[in-house]
Amino acid sequence: MIVREFEEDDETRVKELFILGMNEHNINKQIHPVHFKEYIKMSLISDLSSVNENYFKETFGRVGGFWVAVDDFNIVQGMVGCQILSKDGCELRRMSVHSDYRGRGVGRDLLNTVISHAQSQGLSQISLSCWPHQHDAIAMYRKYGFQITSEQEVGSYGVKVVFMNKSLSDA
Ligand SMILES: CC(C)(COP(=O)(O)OP(=O)(O)OC[C@H]1O[C@@H](n2cnc3c(N)ncnc32)[C@H](O)[C@@H]1OP(=O)(O)O)[C@@H](O)C(=O)NCCC(=O)NCCS
Repeated sequence: MIVREFEEDDETRVKELFILGMNEHNINKQIHPVHFKEYIKMSLISDLSSVNENYFKETFGRVGGFWVAVDDFNIVQGMVGCQILSKDGCELRRMSVHSDYRGRGVGRDLLNTVISHAQSQGLSQISLSCWPHQHDAIAMYRKYGFQITSEQEVGSYGVKVVFMNKSLSDA
């Protein structure tokens, strides 16, 4: 599996992988199905509607990015985005690895790609948010130096959102 920069032709598969990853996390209906459907819909028409437009455009003098992990057939099996929030910080978004490819270091490679990119852009912080029941992701982020900064109810999803942060100055 190799990690490479997103290409326009990956867009359909990226959306598919996002839906697959998210659906796994609502099997027990922690989020009301109506709100969950709305969240998926909003995601697909917001940043994922155009990855090139929303991740690679220069913002605050910094450039974000989006990377995919591809198998031997160039099929996207993992992904992650880095969106610039300010001249100092970015948000790690849309991290997902197909369930058949987990536990092999793909998530780690994607995470390290974002960390290296953020450092190369002179950023000092990476933030992210996830749901409390995304245990695998939270365990991985903690292992790589992210700390929970807050847990708050946001919007009408009926569950708290976990906010995490990694300082690059002590990396
Ligand atoms: C979170 C996710 C991306 C991890 O991907 P992965 O390819 O299985 O992760 P890796 O195999 O690279 O593991 C990376 C590290 O996290 C740790 N880790 C992963 N899952 C873990 C778990 N359930 N418990 C404890 N540690 C875990 C691994 O031990 C590994 O540590 P190491 O690098 O020291 O060996 C994957 O589970 C996933 O796509 N989940 C569904 C989507 C999701 O929740 N996305 C997050 C949105 S915020």
